[in-house]
Amino acid sequence: MDGNGRWAKQRGLPRTAGHTAGEENLAAVVRSAVRLGIDHLTVFGFSTENWVRPRQEVRHILGLHKKLFGRVAELNELNVRVRWIGRPFDDPAARTPRYVQRAIAKAIRDTEANTGMTLTVAFDYGSRTEIAHAVETLRRDGREITVEAIDSALYQPDLPPVDVLVRTSGETRVSNFLLWQAHGAPISFASAAWPDYSSDDLRAAVELARNSPNHR
Ligand code: FPP
Repeated sequence: MDGNGRWAKQRGLPRTAGHTAGEENLAAVVRSAVRLGIDHLTVFGFSTENWVRPRQEVRHILGLHKKLFGRVAELNELNVRVRWIGRPFDDPAARTPRYVQRAIAKAIRDTEANTGMTLTVAFDYGSRTEIAHAVETLRRDGREITVEAIDSALYQPDLPPVDVLVRTSGETRVSNFLLWQAHGAPISFASAAWPDYSSDDLRAAVELARNSPNHR
């Protein structure tokens, strides 16, 4: 969800206002995704690298996660199931505060009976850390390191492969997001900053996925 900071700067607002607008747009994008019949939407909410941002910005983004995970009534109305992908809370390097852990656990519990779209929020997530964790888990269990074994040891092994990756705000570089799962996926480039990412942009991403030679 890139470009919150730039969106705010263009309007003479603090970066935190961009993140607030980003969270509100995420709620709108979730509605659009449900309308388009998308089964899985996974969003990058906070990366393992984001902890070095100014404390006030980190605190603000954490608060927005609490807000998002608190939208249970809205998610239930949309029949959306919430999941989380990220570094396990008991990992020695994990830094997720207890109140965010509790909000995540509660949202998962309160939406687990929903049968529509799965919204997976990546929080304290890094793809390279995830892959290293999978390999380390297999090694510790004395398992052979194969592609299938790594698949099965990822944070959320049930998550299907990525059909299309979206980059907003004119970014054209690969980020540390679902690198293993997005193998072969097309990338949908949107010039809109995340707070302006629209249902038309999402529709274009779905089209790109449908027209991809790897489409399942
Ligand atoms: C990247 O834009 C955005 C983030 C690091 C935070 C994303 C968080 C939200 C949209 C808040 C709500 C989301 C959830 C899941 C609760 P940036 O800050 O790097 O902006 P820039 O690229 O313009 O500097």
